[in-house]
Amino acid sequence: MARWGQAPVTLLGCGSEIAKINRLITNVRNGISGALVIRGEVGIGKSTLLNRAAHRAADLRCLR
Ligand SMILES: Nc1ncnc2c1ncn2[C@@H]1O[C@H](COP(=O)(O)OP(=O)(O)O)[C@@H](O)[C@H]1O
Ligand SMILES: [Mg+2]
Repeated sequence: MARWGQAPVTLLGCGSEIAKINRLITNVRNGISGALVIRGEVGIGKSTLLNRAAHRAADLRCLR
């Protein structure tokens, strides 16, 4: 299992979700807070998406 902030695996077919997360991170860097709910059935890739987000935001404080 990928650990928090670990280099991500290649994610297939979730470009729009990644784009939303990237926008959220960009906004945070610009001082704009926000929230995003990630939901879906077991194994759909929620944790993998979050690991990718934490990796991308490694310079920010991430709580889990
Ligand atoms: N979009 C995707 N592309 C490739 N592999 C994926 C994708 N989404 C999930 N996986 C793989 O499926 C498995 C389950 O994903 P995971 O993130 O643990 O699901 P969840 O947290 O939603 O239960 C993992 O091995 C992950 O690498
Ligand atoms: Mg999970």
